[in-house]
Amino acid sequence: MYRTHNCGEIRLSDADKTVTLSGWVQRSRKMGGMTFVDIRDRYGFTQLVFNNETNAELFDIANKMGREYVIQITGRVAERSNKNANIATGEIEIIVEKLQILNEAQTPPFTIEDNTDGGDEIRMKYRYLDLRRNNVRSNMMLRHQIAFETRRYLDQLGFLEVETPILIGSTPEGARDFVVPSRMNPGEFYALPQSPQLFKQLLMVSGFDRYFQIAKCFRDEDLRADRQPEFTQIDCEMSFVEQEDILQTFEGMIKHLFRFVKNIDFNDNFPRITWHDAMKYYGSDKPDIRFDMRLVELKETVTGNNFVIFDSAAYVGGICASGCGTYTRKQIDELTDFVKRPQVGANGLVYIRCEMDGTFKSSVDKYYSNSKLKSIAELFNAKLGDLILILAGDKIKTQKALCELRLEVGEGLCLRDKNVYKPLWVVDFPLFEWDEETRRYYATHHPFTSPNLVDIPLLDTNPGLVRATAYDMVINGVELGGGSIRIHDSNLQKRMFELLGFTPEKAQAQFGFLMSAFQYGAPPHGGLAFGLDRLVSLFAGLDSIRDCIAFPKNNSGRDIMIDAPSKIDQMQLDELNLVVKINESNIK
Ligand code: AMO
Repeated sequence: MYRTHNCGEIRLSDADKTVTLSGWVQRSRKMGGMTFVDIRDRYGFTQLVFNNETNAELFDIANKMGREYVIQITGRVAERSNKNANIATGEIEIIVEKLQILNEAQTPPFTIEDNTDGGDEIRMKYRYLDLRRNNVRSNMMLRHQIAFETRRYLDQLGFLEVETPILIGSTPEGARDFVVPSRMNPGEFYALPQSPQLFKQLLMVSGFDRYFQIAKCFRDEDLRADRQPEFTQIDCEMSFVEQEDILQTFEGMIKHLFRFVKNIDFNDNFPRITWHDAMKYYGSDKPDIRFDMRLVELKETVTGNNFVIFDSAAYVGGICASGCGTYTRKQIDELTDFVKRPQVGANGLVYIRCEMDGTFKSSVDKYYSNSKLKSIAELFNAKLGDLILILAGDKIKTQKALCELRLEVGEGLCLRDKNVYKPLWVVDFPLFEWDEETRRYYATHHPFTSPNLVDIPLLDTNPGLVRATAYDMVINGVELGGGSIRIHDSNLQKRMFELLGFTPEKAQAQFGFLMSAFQYGAPPHGGLAFGLDRLVSLFAGLDSIRDCIAFPKNNSGRDIMIDAPSKIDQMQLDELNLVVKINESNIK
């Protein structure tokens, strides 16, 4: 038997028992004739004592053990004279009587400690060692707990977990596909699913009624802190439902997870905001509502004072940073530099400072009198000591830049506390997005999303105004999940494909099986998918979803531990009927 107990469970009540433990050497300290070794496993640490006087042979072996050696010991549990209240086993130690080194270890390339000395790159290369660290492992445990509670909640409601294939054709989520060559079908390729979207709709046609899957999805897109090329969705679909049924069911799921995983109760319904209002007040379709600081539109108020930038801009808007009237010139310059970054994209920043004496100081006071500045300040309900920050330009671009500025200022004012959770639903997304470059509409969500039935006449007259029956759940500015009511009528689906520029042949080639399934009695249905990685990182307060994925990819999509992707040999290429031709212009 390798162990009678794990390394985190022995307490003072076990004093005098003889126990056997197995685990890794965390650290050792030699103090005169005694050596103290912490033995570690997934469950915790236990202090071991080796005494030169009572057992010189073991003492010598113990002193030769390096960090991360795998050992087994047997010994007697004793009360510690020097108790450590910070760890669960801090009241006891084991006086070791037998020691066996099960495996030696090389010195690890970084310390296996909470605050490790290892940089990102080295930790990813030795991810199996990184996963020994408490904080990384606890993220994985949280992930397990969330997946487990998700299954429990959905099972109670009669959802069936059904696996769908990974080797498929293209799915319509809007990113690039990862493709896999088929040896048995020369010159043909599978695509990996960007989501199980089409299959879950087919399962509704099959009468499964309530489906879910904790599903791997693959998208070849530019990576960011909240995006991985392979990630996991809690993917769900329901039949005979309207939007309201779905919002209630999955608001219930998120509340269940908060209750059973985080011990947080949400008694009220989650607020709902239309996409239009989200853009208007927060400049974003995923507003962070932990703090107010809403955008205020100023175009009408500020036009006509000979300030060309405001006069010529399609949109002028601002935010009011409460209590920031004391910001120095340098701080305002820093915010100006911030908004000019290419990712934010504004040309400059105008400020109005509400001085404590009731006057106003502004970067544009050459154009605006004090009373005009006062009337602008009133639109923000600004108080003495506040700072108004204004951007101008193209509408959507400027709203988005104001959103970034709002988040930056909110961060600076510590208004984005990771322990505060503010969920909301964003509803009434536009059905289409117009792309100026290709001069055509794209589906905002995907081509199977049902228009709001009230707006169907607009499909012929003004498609840009048609609202989708689509919804996103957002928490703390993170888009956690989204979905829609689907089109189940093949004629309406055909019309959608037309509007999206699919020829009937292309629609048939890509989605023919779905269109044909819809001719055999498709129930009204809808669903949504949550990003499991985003959910875990939100619950754990992480800055990147990488930290809650056991073996993640880096920002270039590489797994640096196993060194993938990699070249394959000529024999494999021949078998797959492939010739590799590298286009120099694709190399970054
Ligand atoms: P959508 O594309 O909005 O919808 O994806 C659903 C959720 O998946 C997560 N997500 C990601 N997480 C990590 N890395 C990525 N690259 C990534 N891309 C998406 C997000 C997102 O909210 N089939 C539809 C759902 C439906 O209509 O039912 C879909 O996939 O949290």
